[in-house]
Amino acid sequence: MKTLAGRSSKLMAMNSTLSVIGCGYLGATHAACMSSLGFTVIGIDTDPNKVEMLSRGELPFYEPGLDTLLEQEIKSGRLTFTTDFSAVADADVHFVCVGTPQSKDGLAADLTYVRSAVSAIAPYLKEGALVVGKSTVPVGTAQSLRDQLAVTAPHADLAWNPEFLREGFAVEDTLTPNRLVVGVANDRAEEILKDVYSQIIALGTPWIRADLPTAELVKVAANSFLATKISFINAMAEVCEAAGGDVTVLAKAIGYDPRIGSRFLQAGIGFGGGCLPKDIRAFMARAEELGAKQALEFLREIDAINLRARQRVIDVVRSDLSENLTQYKIAVLGATFKPDSDDVRDSPALDIAAQLHAAGANVVVHDPKGIEPARKRFPNLSFAESVSECVKDADLILHLTEWREYRELDPSVIGQLVKNKIIIDGRNALDRDLWRSNGWKFHALGRTD
Ligand code: UDX
Repeated sequence: MKTLAGRSSKLMAMNSTLSVIGCGYLGATHAACMSSLGFTVIGIDTDPNKVEMLSRGELPFYEPGLDTLLEQEIKSGRLTFTTDFSAVADADVHFVCVGTPQSKDGLAADLTYVRSAVSAIAPYLKEGALVVGKSTVPVGTAQSLRDQLAVTAPHADLAWNPEFLREGFAVEDTLTPNRLVVGVANDRAEEILKDVYSQIIALGTPWIRADLPTAELVKVAANSFLATKISFINAMAEVCEAAGGDVTVLAKAIGYDPRIGSRFLQAGIGFGGGCLPKDIRAFMARAEELGAKQALEFLREIDAINLRARQRVIDVVRSDLSENLTQYKIAVLGATFKPDSDDVRDSPALDIAAQLHAAGANVVVHDPKGIEPARKRFPNLSFAESVSECVKDADLILHLTEWREYRELDPSVIGQLVKNKIIIDGRNALDRDLWRSNGWKFHALGRTD
């Protein structure tokens, strides 16, 4: 049998084993997708509950399409999960997919999980094994882990292969990514990764070989660019509000220029989630350590514009209702940081709901998938199981996550349930003319009319 350890051998998909360390959002997706390509995959996680659920074919979070893929791959027998790190001994390639959250005492990323994952697998790595980091890390981390492995498992190597998957499109982005980026220190590591991804490369996917630091930087640069684009349009929204313009028309007009492009120019309450906010902060912290603080100073402003968007919505609520919100019921549509996800990490929607609640308003939140995670984070907020229950007798509706269900609401039906027909569209996703023609007072960020 040909194995990855052989220098010139080609990886045979059906008889090669991969391990995935960390089975959260990224790891569970990667494990199921790699299994669907024909590999035997061992998923390792320290959380026994998560391992138990995944082993039963149940996803601990919501991601369209991943539930059926997971079930199918578990049934195939190729995909297994365990808490036992010694299980990685069978694998040739090890993907490290653990989290790198913002540290509790600053902007930097907390690397505890990445470091302990690499330490935990080191004793079990076989001759020629390749450890492949996928987690988003500060530049320089990969080299330091490679140095660490040179001592603890000198017969193994380490590469970095950042992921760019979006929640809501995780399977699609893993199996048909718009590029594959690998940071390697030698040709052999690149060849192994080319073998692993051969079916994806065969689709014509661009392949980019980089050195370790560049591969790490690609990920944070991409997320910083995306965050900048969103904050740019939200800055334009502020100017439009001051000047009497309409940011949705402005975005459409500038987006036709192919150098600018129309995507990620949706003005509103800004970005959240487990990646963009913490990645730009960690990038700033790392640049400062490297003596390049000034180069990323603009990201501080990107972060500030983003957080200001949340405040601007609250200002509109106060101007529509009153400075004192204690008498009012506010119906919040949306808790997750974006639609088609149950992720409420750093969700602008939930932050706004919590701030209004803290200001004394009677806030009731609805979300198609995110109620349970939102309740865990903010147990004092009130939640409704249906839109009708949420908006009943409301003085104002806040549309904060653009779920399809909300975009398809019938304003005449909703109008019969509320106390006041006032709606604020925090995502610029509703049909303003339709709502207005049904007698609603309609506000949106960046649109003065
Ligand atoms: C992001 C990156 O897109 C992905 O490549 C990376 O791997 C992980 O981080 P994700 O966190 O799933 O993915 O969300 P994304 O689709 O990028 O949206 C981020 C946030 O920006 C959401 O809160 C979304 O509502 C907001 N957003 C997006 C806007 O406010 N306006 C836009 O025009 C686009």
